[in-house]
Amino acid sequence: MKERLLTLKEEALRELAQVENQQQLADLRIKYLGKKGPLTEILRGMGALSAEERPVIGQVANEVRGAIEEVIEAKQAAYNEAETNARLAAERIDVTLPGRPAARGAVHPISKVIEEIEDIFIGMGYTVAEGPEVEQDYYNFEALNLPKNHPARDMQDSFYITDEILMRTQTSPVQVRTMEKMKGHAPVKIICPGKVYRRDDDDATHSHMFTQIEGLVIDRNIRMSDLKGTLLQFVRELFGSNTQIRLRPSFFPFTEPSVEVDVTCAMCGGSGCRVCKQTGWLEILGAGMVHPRVLEMGGYDPEEYSGFAFGLGVERVAMLKYDIEDIRHFYTNDLRFLKQFVHL
Ligand code: PHE
Repeated sequence: MKERLLTLKEEALRELAQVENQQQLADLRIKYLGKKGPLTEILRGMGALSAEERPVIGQVANEVRGAIEEVIEAKQAAYNEAETNARLAAERIDVTLPGRPAARGAVHPISKVIEEIEDIFIGMGYTVAEGPEVEQDYYNFEALNLPKNHPARDMQDSFYITDEILMRTQTSPVQVRTMEKMKGHAPVKIICPGKVYRRDDDDATHSHMFTQIEGLVIDRNIRMSDLKGTLLQFVRELFGSNTQIRLRPSFFPFTEPSVEVDVTCAMCGGSGCRVCKQTGWLEILGAGMVHPRVLEMGGYDPEEYSGFAFGLGVERVAMLKYDIEDIRHFYTNDLRFLKQFVHL
Protein backbone atom coordinates (compact mmCIF):
# COMPACT_ATOMS: atom_id res chain seq x y z
CA MET A 1 0.00 0.00 0.00
CA LYS A 2 2.88 2.24 0.77
CA GLU A 3 4.21 1.50 -2.70
CA ARG A 4 0.95 2.52 -4.24
CA LEU A 5 1.00 5.76 -2.33
CA LEU A 6 4.52 6.64 -3.39
CA THR A 7 3.79 5.86 -7.02
CA LEU A 8 0.70 7.99 -6.76
CA LYS A 9 2.76 10.85 -5.43
CA GLU A 10 5.31 10.56 -8.22
CA GLU A 11 2.63 10.42 -10.87
CA ALA A 12 0.86 13.43 -9.43
CA LEU A 13 4.02 15.47 -9.17
CA ARG A 14 5.01 14.60 -12.69
CA GLU A 15 1.65 15.60 -14.06
CA LEU A 16 1.63 18.76 -12.01
CA ALA A 17 5.02 19.72 -13.38
CA GLN A 18 3.50 19.79 -16.84
CA VAL A 19 0.51 21.90 -15.99
CA GLU A 20 0.07 24.80 -18.43
CA ASN A 21 -2.91 26.68 -17.14
CA GLN A 22 -5.29 27.17 -14.22
CA GLN A 23 -7.93 24.88 -15.67
CA GLN A 24 -5.50 21.99 -15.88
CA LEU A 25 -4.40 22.69 -12.33
CA ALA A 26 -8.00 22.62 -11.14
CA ASP A 27 -8.60 19.35 -12.99
CA LEU A 28 -5.57 17.74 -11.34
CA ARG A 29 -6.69 18.94 -7.91
CA ILE A 30 -9.94 17.06 -8.43
CA LYS A 31 -8.23 14.09 -9.98
CA TYR A 32 -5.82 13.51 -7.09
CA LEU A 33 -7.44 15.09 -4.06
CA GLY A 34 -11.12 14.91 -4.96
CA LYS A 35 -13.66 12.67 -3.22
CA LYS A 36 -13.46 10.14 -6.01
CA GLY A 37 -9.68 10.35 -6.31
CA PRO A 38 -7.20 7.54 -5.58
CA LEU A 39 -6.00 9.06 -2.32
CA THR A 40 -9.46 9.11 -0.84
CA GLU A 41 -9.98 5.60 -2.03
CA ILE A 42 -6.79 4.41 -0.35
CA LEU A 43 -7.65 6.15 2.91
CA ARG A 44 -11.06 4.58 2.84
CA GLY A 45 -9.46 1.17 2.53
CA MET A 46 -7.40 1.72 5.70
CA GLY A 47 -10.00 -0.01 7.82
CA ALA A 48 -8.80 -3.32 6.46
CA LEU A 49 -5.26 -2.79 7.72
CA SER A 50 -3.80 -4.19 10.89
CA ALA A 51 -3.42 -2.00 13.94
CA GLU A 52 0.34 -1.70 13.45
CA GLU A 53 0.20 -0.87 9.78
CA ARG A 54 -2.57 1.67 10.09
CA PRO A 55 -0.58 4.56 11.65
CA VAL A 56 2.39 3.96 9.33
CA ILE A 57 0.30 4.00 6.19
CA GLY A 58 -1.77 6.85 7.60
CA GLN A 59 1.36 8.91 8.00
CA VAL A 60 2.57 8.15 4.48
CA ALA A 61 -0.86 9.00 3.07
CA ASN A 62 -0.81 12.31 4.87
CA GLU A 63 2.65 13.08 3.58
CA VAL A 64 1.63 12.27 0.03
CA ARG A 65 -1.49 14.40 0.33
CA GLY A 66 0.57 17.23 1.86
CA ALA A 67 3.17 17.10 -0.91
CA ILE A 68 0.57 17.19 -3.64
CA GLU A 69 -1.36 19.99 -1.93
CA GLU A 70 1.80 22.00 -1.46
CA VAL A 71 2.63 21.91 -5.17
CA ILE A 72 -0.93 22.76 -6.14
CA GLU A 73 -1.08 25.70 -3.71
CA ALA A 74 2.27 27.01 -4.89
CA LYS A 75 1.17 26.90 -8.51
CA GLN A 76 -2.17 28.46 -7.69
CA ALA A 77 -0.39 31.27 -5.82
CA ALA A 78 1.85 31.86 -8.85
CA TYR A 79 -1.20 32.07 -11.12
CA ASN A 80 -2.91 34.49 -8.70
CA GLU A 81 0.10 36.73 -8.55
CA ALA A 82 0.49 36.77 -12.32
CA GLU A 83 -3.17 37.69 -12.65
CA THR A 84 -2.87 40.54 -10.15
CA ASN A 85 0.21 41.87 -11.87
CA ALA A 86 -1.51 41.78 -15.22
CA ARG A 87 -4.47 43.70 -13.82
CA LEU A 88 -2.28 46.29 -12.15
CA ALA A 89 -0.42 46.81 -15.40
CA ALA A 90 -3.65 47.15 -17.36
CA GLU A 91 -5.23 49.56 -14.88
CA ARG A 92 -2.16 51.64 -14.35
CA ILE A 93 -2.86 55.34 -13.75
CA ASP A 94 -0.31 57.99 -14.56
CA VAL A 95 -0.64 60.20 -11.51
CA THR A 96 1.85 62.67 -12.92
CA LEU A 97 -0.49 63.61 -15.78
CA PRO A 98 -1.68 67.20 -15.27
CA GLY A 99 -5.43 67.43 -14.46
CA ARG A 100 -8.02 69.13 -16.62
CA PRO A 101 -8.69 72.52 -15.02
CA ALA A 102 -12.36 73.07 -14.08
CA ALA A 103 -13.81 76.10 -15.86
CA ARG A 104 -14.38 78.84 -13.27
CA GLY A 105 -17.40 81.09 -13.44
CA ALA A 106 -17.28 84.78 -12.66
CA VAL A 107 -19.47 86.91 -10.44
CA HIS A 108 -21.58 89.07 -12.74
CA PRO A 109 -20.47 92.73 -12.57
CA ILE A 110 -23.98 93.77 -11.47
CA SER A 111 -23.93 91.25 -8.61
CA LYS A 112 -20.45 92.43 -7.75
CA VAL A 113 -21.53 96.07 -7.46
CA ILE A 114 -24.61 95.10 -5.44
CA GLU A 115 -22.43 93.15 -3.00
CA GLU A 116 -20.02 96.02 -2.66
CA ILE A 117 -22.79 98.55 -1.99
CA GLU A 118 -24.50 96.19 0.46
CA ASP A 119 -21.22 95.86 2.36
CA ILE A 120 -20.88 99.63 2.63
CA PHE A 121 -24.40 100.12 3.98
CA ILE A 122 -24.26 97.08 6.27
CA GLY A 123 -21.15 98.74 7.71
CA MET A 124 -23.34 101.77 8.48
CA GLY A 125 -25.91 99.65 10.32
CA TYR A 126 -28.41 99.03 7.52
CA THR A 127 -30.10 95.71 6.84
CA VAL A 128 -30.96 94.34 3.41
CA ALA A 129 -34.68 94.09 2.55
CA GLU A 130 -36.48 92.46 -0.36
CA GLY A 131 -39.70 92.89 -2.26
CA PRO A 132 -41.53 91.28 -5.21
CA GLU A 133 -40.81 92.17 -8.83
CA VAL A 134 -44.45 91.54 -9.71
CA GLU A 135 -46.03 94.28 -7.66
CA GLN A 136 -49.42 95.74 -6.81
CA ASP A 137 -50.30 99.15 -8.21
CA TYR A 138 -50.94 100.23 -4.63
CA TYR A 139 -47.32 99.70 -3.52
CA ASN A 140 -45.66 100.82 -6.75
CA PHE A 141 -47.66 104.04 -7.11
CA GLU A 142 -50.59 104.72 -4.85
CA ALA A 143 -48.91 104.44 -1.44
CA LEU A 144 -46.00 106.45 -2.84
CA ASN A 145 -48.26 109.44 -3.30
CA LEU A 146 -48.98 108.75 -6.95
CA PRO A 147 -52.79 108.43 -7.12
CA LYS A 148 -54.40 106.85 -10.17
CA ASN A 149 -54.49 109.91 -12.41
CA HIS A 150 -51.31 111.52 -11.21
CA PRO A 151 -49.38 112.97 -14.15
CA ALA A 152 -46.09 111.69 -12.71
CA ARG A 153 -47.16 108.18 -13.72
CA ASP A 154 -46.37 109.25 -17.24
CA MET A 155 -42.71 109.39 -16.27
CA GLN A 156 -42.65 105.65 -16.05
CA ASP A 157 -44.32 103.71 -18.78
CA SER A 158 -45.09 100.46 -17.07
CA PHE A 159 -45.60 96.81 -17.91
CA TYR A 160 -49.09 96.17 -16.54
CA ILE A 161 -50.24 92.61 -16.03
CA THR A 162 -53.75 93.55 -14.91
CA ASP A 163 -55.17 96.94 -13.92
CA GLU A 164 -53.91 96.37 -10.39
CA ILE A 165 -50.73 94.34 -10.96
CA LEU A 166 -47.58 95.34 -12.81
CA MET A 167 -43.86 94.70 -13.01
CA ARG A 168 -42.46 97.17 -10.48
CA THR A 169 -41.00 100.25 -12.16
CA GLN A 170 -38.80 101.11 -9.18
CA THR A 171 -37.63 99.58 -5.90
CA SER A 172 -39.50 102.31 -3.97
CA PRO A 173 -42.51 100.02 -3.23
CA VAL A 174 -40.18 98.26 -0.80
CA GLN A 175 -40.21 101.49 1.24
CA VAL A 176 -43.93 101.02 1.76
CA ARG A 177 -43.67 97.28 2.41
CA THR A 178 -40.92 97.89 4.96
CA MET A 179 -42.93 100.55 6.78
CA GLU A 180 -45.92 98.17 6.93
CA LYS A 181 -43.71 95.40 8.30
CA MET A 182 -42.16 97.68 10.95
CA LYS A 183 -45.64 98.72 12.16
CA GLY A 184 -44.62 102.22 13.17
CA HIS A 185 -41.42 101.19 14.97
CA ALA A 186 -38.18 103.14 14.51
CA PRO A 187 -35.44 103.34 13.51
CA VAL A 188 -35.87 101.95 10.01
CA LYS A 189 -32.58 101.57 8.12
CA ILE A 190 -32.77 99.38 5.05
CA ILE A 191 -31.45 99.09 1.56
CA CYS A 192 -33.11 96.95 -1.07
CA PRO A 193 -31.42 95.88 -4.29
CA GLY A 194 -33.60 94.50 -7.06
CA LYS A 195 -34.69 94.42 -10.68
CA VAL A 196 -37.14 96.96 -12.06
CA TYR A 197 -39.00 97.11 -15.38
CA ARG A 198 -39.95 99.93 -17.71
CA ARG A 199 -41.29 100.12 -21.22
CA ASP A 200 -38.19 101.70 -22.64
CA ASP A 201 -36.74 101.03 -26.04
CA ASP A 202 -33.38 99.38 -25.39
CA ASP A 203 -30.29 101.27 -26.46
CA ALA A 204 -26.78 101.87 -25.09
CA THR A 205 -28.09 103.62 -21.97
CA HIS A 206 -31.68 102.32 -21.63
CA SER A 207 -32.96 98.89 -20.81
CA HIS A 208 -36.48 97.57 -20.23
CA MET A 209 -35.09 95.80 -17.17
CA PHE A 210 -32.39 97.15 -14.89
CA THR A 211 -31.30 97.18 -11.28
CA GLN A 212 -31.84 99.69 -8.50
CA ILE A 213 -30.83 99.91 -4.89
CA GLU A 214 -33.38 101.61 -2.68
CA GLY A 215 -32.49 103.10 0.66
CA LEU A 216 -34.85 104.14 3.45
CA VAL A 217 -34.15 105.64 6.86
CA ILE A 218 -36.88 106.67 9.31
CA ASP A 219 -36.40 107.91 12.83
CA ARG A 220 -36.98 110.98 14.96
CA ASN A 221 -35.06 114.08 13.80
CA ILE A 222 -33.80 112.75 10.47
CA ARG A 223 -32.73 115.76 8.39
CA MET A 224 -31.57 116.57 4.91
CA SER A 225 -28.03 116.86 6.30
CA ASP A 226 -28.23 113.18 7.36
CA LEU A 227 -29.09 112.26 3.79
CA LYS A 228 -26.24 114.33 2.43
CA GLY A 229 -23.70 112.99 4.92
CA THR A 230 -24.77 109.40 4.34
CA LEU A 231 -24.52 109.72 0.57
CA LEU A 232 -21.16 111.48 0.74
CA GLN A 233 -19.74 108.74 2.97
CA PHE A 234 -21.21 106.11 0.65
CA VAL A 235 -19.78 107.48 -2.61
CA ARG A 236 -16.37 107.98 -1.00
CA GLU A 237 -16.26 104.34 0.02
CA LEU A 238 -17.42 103.29 -3.41
CA PHE A 239 -15.43 105.59 -5.70
CA GLY A 240 -12.59 106.88 -3.52
CA SER A 241 -12.06 109.39 -0.72
CA ASN A 242 -11.74 112.44 -2.99
CA THR A 243 -15.20 112.01 -4.46
CA GLN A 244 -17.58 114.96 -4.08
CA ILE A 245 -21.34 115.07 -4.42
CA ARG A 246 -23.68 117.74 -5.73
CA LEU A 247 -27.41 117.87 -4.97
CA ARG A 248 -29.69 119.35 -7.62
CA PRO A 249 -33.37 120.13 -6.93
CA SER A 250 -35.67 117.61 -8.51
CA PHE A 251 -39.12 116.12 -8.12
CA PHE A 252 -40.41 112.77 -6.96
CA PRO A 253 -43.99 112.45 -5.67
CA PHE A 254 -42.83 110.45 -2.65
CA THR A 255 -40.08 112.78 -1.43
CA GLU A 256 -40.14 116.47 -0.48
CA PRO A 257 -37.77 118.09 -1.05
CA SER A 258 -36.36 115.89 -3.78
CA VAL A 259 -32.88 115.94 -5.24
CA GLU A 260 -30.84 114.37 -7.95
CA VAL A 261 -27.37 113.48 -6.79
CA ASP A 262 -24.27 113.83 -8.93
CA VAL A 263 -20.79 112.54 -8.07
CA THR A 264 -17.53 113.89 -9.40
CA CYS A 265 -16.60 111.87 -12.45
CA ALA A 266 -14.43 108.93 -11.38
CA MET A 267 -12.82 108.83 -14.83
CA CYS A 268 -11.38 112.35 -14.95
CA GLY A 269 -11.68 113.39 -11.30
CA GLY A 270 -13.96 116.29 -12.25
CA SER A 271 -11.95 117.99 -14.95
CA GLY A 272 -14.23 116.85 -17.76
CA CYS A 273 -14.02 113.89 -20.13
CA ARG A 274 -15.94 111.74 -22.61
CA VAL A 275 -17.76 109.78 -19.85
CA CYS A 276 -19.11 112.87 -18.01
CA LYS A 277 -19.64 114.74 -21.29
CA GLN A 278 -17.11 117.37 -20.17
CA THR A 279 -19.22 118.39 -17.15
CA GLY A 280 -17.09 116.70 -14.47
CA TRP A 281 -20.28 115.34 -12.84
CA LEU A 282 -22.27 112.13 -13.16
CA GLU A 283 -25.81 111.55 -11.98
CA ILE A 284 -26.20 108.29 -10.07
CA LEU A 285 -29.04 108.77 -7.59
CA GLY A 286 -32.49 110.15 -6.94
CA ALA A 287 -33.22 110.99 -3.33
CA GLY A 288 -35.13 113.17 -0.90
CA MET A 289 -36.91 113.48 2.43
CA VAL A 290 -39.78 111.01 2.69
CA HIS A 291 -43.03 112.85 1.91
CA PRO A 292 -45.24 113.27 5.01
CA ARG A 293 -48.15 111.64 3.19
CA VAL A 294 -46.00 108.59 2.42
CA LEU A 295 -44.99 108.34 6.08
CA GLU A 296 -48.61 108.60 7.07
CA MET A 297 -49.77 105.92 4.62
CA GLY A 298 -46.94 103.70 5.91
CA GLY A 299 -48.16 104.08 9.50
CA TYR A 300 -45.72 106.72 10.79
CA ASP A 301 -46.82 110.00 12.32
CA PRO A 302 -45.09 112.71 10.25
CA GLU A 303 -45.24 115.05 13.25
CA GLU A 304 -43.02 112.66 15.17
CA TYR A 305 -40.96 110.91 12.53
CA SER A 306 -39.06 111.97 9.46
CA GLY A 307 -36.90 110.09 7.01
CA PHE A 308 -34.91 110.08 3.84
CA ALA A 309 -34.91 107.76 0.86
CA PHE A 310 -32.75 107.27 -2.16
CA GLY A 311 -32.72 105.16 -5.31
CA LEU A 312 -29.53 104.30 -7.13
CA GLY A 313 -29.02 102.88 -10.61
CA VAL A 314 -26.71 99.89 -10.32
CA GLU A 315 -25.94 99.59 -14.04
CA ARG A 316 -24.90 103.25 -14.09
CA VAL A 317 -22.44 102.64 -11.27
CA ALA A 318 -21.11 99.43 -12.83
CA MET A 319 -20.64 101.19 -16.18
CA LEU A 320 -18.63 103.93 -14.47
CA LYS A 321 -16.62 101.60 -12.30
CA TYR A 322 -15.63 99.23 -15.08
CA ASP A 323 -15.77 101.64 -18.04
CA ILE A 324 -18.54 99.74 -19.85
CA GLU A 325 -20.03 101.72 -22.72
CA ASP A 326 -23.27 99.83 -23.42
CA ILE A 327 -25.86 98.74 -20.84
CA ARG A 328 -26.90 95.85 -23.08
CA HIS A 329 -23.63 94.07 -22.36
CA PHE A 330 -25.01 93.21 -18.91
CA TYR A 331 -27.85 91.12 -20.33
CA THR A 332 -26.70 89.65 -23.60
CA ASN A 333 -24.52 87.12 -21.76
CA ASP A 334 -21.62 87.20 -24.17
CA LEU A 335 -18.95 85.09 -22.48
CA ARG A 336 -16.20 87.32 -23.86
CA PHE A 337 -17.72 90.14 -21.82
CA LEU A 338 -18.43 88.12 -18.67
CA LYS A 339 -15.01 86.44 -18.60
CA GLN A 340 -13.36 89.81 -18.12
CA PHE A 341 -14.76 89.84 -14.59
CA VAL A 342 -13.35 86.49 -13.43
CA HIS A 343 -10.63 88.13 -11.37
CA LEU A 344 -12.65 90.92 -9.77
N1 PHE B 1 -37.67 105.63 -7.37
C1 PHE B 1 -37.00 106.73 -7.98
C2 PHE B 1 -36.72 106.40 -9.46
O1 PHE B 1 -36.83 105.27 -9.83
C3 PHE B 1 -35.71 107.06 -7.31
C4 PHE B 1 -35.90 107.54 -5.90
C5 PHE B 1 -35.92 106.68 -4.85
C6 PHE B 1 -36.07 108.89 -5.64
C7 PHE B 1 -36.08 107.11 -3.57
C8 PHE B 1 -36.26 109.36 -4.36
C9 PHE B 1 -36.25 108.48 -3.32
O2 PHE B 1 -36.42 107.27 -10.24
